[in-house]
Amino acid sequence: MNKDLLQADSALHTEQDSDFSKIIDAGLSRRRFMQGGATAMGLFLAANPLTKAVAATTHPESKLLGFNKIPASTADTFVVPEGYVAKPLISWGDPILKGAPAFDESGNQPASAQAGQFGDNTDGMSFFPLSEDRALLAVNNEYTNYKLLFAHRGEAITADDVKKAQAAHGVSVFEIKRTANGWEYSKESEYNRRITANTEMMLTGPAAGHDLMKTSADAAGKKVLGTFNNCANGQTPWGTYLTCEENFNGYFAKPGAELNGHEKRYGIKDDSKYKWYKFDSRFDITQEPNEPHRHGWVVEIDPMDPTSTPLKRTALGRFKHENAAVIVADNGHVVVYLGDDERGEHLYKFVSKHKYNAADKASNRNLLEEGTLYVSRFTAKKGDVKGKGEWIELTHGKNGLTKENGFNSQAEILIYAREAATVVGATTMDRPEWVAVHPKTKTVCCTLTNNKNRGKKENQPVGGPNPRADNKYGQIVRWTETNGDNTAATFKWDLFLVAGNPTVHKDFYAGSANINDENMFNSPDGLGFDNDGRLWILTDGKYSNEGDFAGMGNNQMLCADPKTGEVRRFATGPIACEITGLAFSPDQRTAFVGVQHPGEDDKPSHFPAGGNSKPRSTIMVIQRTDGGIIGA
Ligand code: FEO
Ligand code: CA
Ligand code: CA
Repeated sequence: MNKDLLQADSALHTEQDSDFSKIIDAGLSRRRFMQGGATAMGLFLAANPLTKAVAATTHPESKLLGFNKIPASTADTFVVPEGYVAKPLISWGDPILKGAPAFDESGNQPASAQAGQFGDNTDGMSFFPLSEDRALLAVNNEYTNYKLLFAHRGEAITADDVKKAQAAHGVSVFEIKRTANGWEYSKESEYNRRITANTEMMLTGPAAGHDLMKTSADAAGKKVLGTFNNCANGQTPWGTYLTCEENFNGYFAKPGAELNGHEKRYGIKDDSKYKWYKFDSRFDITQEPNEPHRHGWVVEIDPMDPTSTPLKRTALGRFKHENAAVIVADNGHVVVYLGDDERGEHLYKFVSKHKYNAADKASNRNLLEEGTLYVSRFTAKKGDVKGKGEWIELTHGKNGLTKENGFNSQAEILIYAREAATVVGATTMDRPEWVAVHPKTKTVCCTLTNNKNRGKKENQPVGGPNPRADNKYGQIVRWTETNGDNTAATFKWDLFLVAGNPTVHKDFYAGSANINDENMFNSPDGLGFDNDGRLWILTDGKYSNEGDFAGMGNNQMLCADPKTGEVRRFATGPIACEITGLAFSPDQRTAFVGVQHPGEDDKPSHFPAGGNSKPRSTIMVIQRTDGGIIGA
């Protein structure tokens, strides 16, 4: 590293100034930026006005970053800091319904076995307390890895295999209890439930019943089978779970026929690697052209009632949903922030029509039924990585969303939300993943995980919150709504961090000053604030540990102090996994963290059982040996 740069950086790092933005802004050093081809002079200007708004109030008994940082790891284990323990809670294939068989790693178990077992590829999850020592976890099972799911490794898919794959998707709800051995899941609880790609659910809201929703099995356009590719999640203050349908397009195919513009925009192809369409005609859109319209939504589930019907909330728009960050704004309206995880897609916000009623929780049950969907447009002076933004309403008859422009109704705007976002001039983003809202300041952060198309495609120019061409590392954008009102139409934004590799690059690809050789990572994805305001970051990045990614090791979990900008590595996962899914017990003394797809693509993992065992997606339970607050 250049000596001048090193001195400048270390001076910044030791600065005791509590002005977070100055540290971060200055840290994206002039040299890094200029060599990166951007002229982000705005980074070096005076402290920005967000500083006061983001100052966190800490838990009285806890420091925000009170743990010892850990090094990067390439080991096939889950590593936590000194004074912490991490244990597996449940793995793909563990039985959760009565009568379900134990996991058999041969890959020969039938669909009927998987239907009673924990699904594959654990992802977003939420914790619902029942009592001090009992709770439910609602957990997404995003997708499957055919090389692990089937003895034939996906080479000879049959009709039963498709049913098995469908049964491994969706959501698992199960009870957990605190025992002498810590938290364990209850195999036989009455609450336990599997929601799969074949569970009956209802479409609700403005797009339900529209002609584009009707299929040969559902002439009313209101009853759907299943949810799949459930990525991340949300939790409402009225006690329901939100599961977000992400890469739904990958399950459909249009063999031998030309794709229309809508299908292309949503990423549908003539073939599907999962092959469901060969055995289940609703996934063949030459037969059921409207079936894809019934997926790509946020689904609301009551985890307390295992007989309840999941509800697809169409008012929140159809795209590749990542998570759903729910907050009750000061004026009582419910706000849900929503990312569409695709290169060059958008960041959205839903505001409920009706207000939250804290005195009568049940009365809030349909707040996601009606409201206004907005999409974001970010503005900045040329080269600045902070600026202003606005939320543009996606409402029929407004902002060019008219019949003349191809939108006949609000239902069409919601079903083709991506195309509506383009019409209104939304900013194309570097793959918006999770959004998180600070519990006290209500400042909002979103991970923009990476984007190899940035600077290469005409609709994805370099600039604003997407400041690097060929963005391999990702960044976290942060915004504060005008007057601290989460329903506001405008906001101010900056970048909380820019990931990079300062041991390989000296330019903008080294990342912001809060990134160093001891905490570097790529592709921030999962994101969440705990109640004290720690910002937890989970990664889904390249784990080659070579080249641009040298020294980063396996995917990991980090913790950031939003006030100082300090980022510290908290945990590292096993070989070839992604870390995704995060929930805390209300006392913050237990964290549940997901290890997804260890050993994918035949990488040499045997996590969690070790030996020569098959690798399995697994939820880890993390606690402190002294019983203290996680992270403090
Ligand atoms: Fe399922 Fe965008 O991650
Ligand atoms: Ca993700
Ligand atoms: Ca990701």
